[in-house]
Amino acid sequence: MKRTTALLIVPAIAVMLFSCSKKNIAVSTTVVTDTSFKQLPFPFGFAVNVSKLRTNIAYKNILLTQATSVSAETVMKIAYLHPAQNTYVWTDADYLVDFAVQNNIRVHGHTLVWHQSLPAWVTNFVGDSAAWENLLKTHIQTIVAHFKGKVTSWDVVNEAIENDGSGYRASSLWYQKLGIGFIARSFQYAHEADPNALLFYNDYGNEWGNTKRNAILNLVNDLKSKGVPINGIGLQMHTDYTQPDANIQTAISTAAATGLKVHISELDISMNPSNNQTLVFNSIIAQQQSDKFKMVAKAFNSIPKAQQYGITTWGIGDADTWITGFYSRPDWPLLFENNYQKKAAFFGVLNSVK
Ligand code: G3I
Repeated sequence: MKRTTALLIVPAIAVMLFSCSKKNIAVSTTVVTDTSFKQLPFPFGFAVNVSKLRTNIAYKNILLTQATSVSAETVMKIAYLHPAQNTYVWTDADYLVDFAVQNNIRVHGHTLVWHQSLPAWVTNFVGDSAAWENLLKTHIQTIVAHFKGKVTSWDVVNEAIENDGSGYRASSLWYQKLGIGFIARSFQYAHEADPNALLFYNDYGNEWGNTKRNAILNLVNDLKSKGVPINGIGLQMHTDYTQPDANIQTAISTAAATGLKVHISELDISMNPSNNQTLVFNSIIAQQQSDKFKMVAKAFNSIPKAQQYGITTWGIGDADTWITGFYSRPDWPLLFENNYQKKAAFFGVLNSVK
C-alpha cells in the first residue's frame, strides 16, 4: 500500500520527530491529520512571511501541519539579504531555514537575481562590466554558499522576460549592465557554489497565451541546449478564477515538455479580478475558487512524477496576500481565511488527487 493511501484511510496520525545536531538537540512535533496537504503525492507549501512565523502561532501551526516545502516571500531577496556591498543580513532567512530544517520541510530559495527589490548600493553602483560581473557573481555565490546543504533549490533568475513576452526585460539593470548572458552565467555561478542545489528559472504569465509562454519556454530551452545547469521552471501562476482551464493546463503541460522539473511557485487565485470594491466573499465564490484550485492541482498531478517539484501558494491565509495591497481591492486568493481556518479551496486541493 502506498504511503499516501495509508494516510488517507487513517483518520489522524501524530508523528513525533526528534532531530539532533552537534550544536543543539531540538524536539519538534509534526502532526499529520486526515486533512493535511502532507498527504498529497507531491510537495506542497507556502511563501512565508518571517515576521508572522515569529509571532503568529496559528500561522506557524499551518506550516507545521500542512507544509512540505516553503519559500521566503521577501527575506531572501537582495535588498533584504545583501543591503550594502559588504553586508549580508542573514537573521530572518536563517530563522526560516532553521525552522524548516528542524521540521523536515524543504526550503526553496527565492530569489537570487531579479530586477526588483534592488538596494540603493546596486542601483547606484558605478563600475565597468568586469566590476558588475564581480558584483553579480559575489552576490550569488555568497548567498548560495551560506545556505548550502539547507536550501534545496533556488529561483536563480526571476522574471527576465518582458510583461507582454515581447523580449528580454529591457528595464532590468542586470540586462542593461551585463547583457543577456547574465542569465546563463547566474546559473553557472549558483551551480559552482552548490552543485547539489536544483536551479530554476521563475516567471509569470505562462497561462496568458502563446507570446509570453513561448518567450519563457524559448529561454529555458535555449539554456538547456547550451548545457547551462538549469533543473527546473517555475510557473508563478498568479491567476484568477476566470482564467480558462485550458490555458492553465497548457501552461503546465508545455512546461513539462521541456523535460525540466516544474514548480507552480507562487500560486494564488484572485476572486475579484474586476476590482469590485464592494464584493463580499460568499459560498458561491468559495466554490468557484475551490474548483479552480482543484483543477490546477489535478493538472499538475498529471505530469510525470519525476518532474513534479511541487506547488507553492504565495502566502497562507487571505490576510497574507500581496494582491489586496497591490491592486487596492478586496480579494481572497488563498487557501485559508484571515484567521487560518481552512477554506473550501483547501479541500479542493486535497480532493484533486483522489
Ligand atoms: O517589512 C516592511 C515593513 O517593515 C515596512 O513598514 C513596510 C513599508 O512599506 O514594508 C515592509 O516590507 C514590504 C514587504 O513586502 C513585506 O512583506 C516591502 O515594502 C514590499 O516591497 C514587499 O513586497 C513584496 C514584493 O514581492 C517585493 O519584494 C511582496 O510581499 C511579495 O509578495 C512580492 O512577491 C513577488 C515575488 O517575489 C515575485 N513574483 C511576484 C510576487 C508578487 O509581486
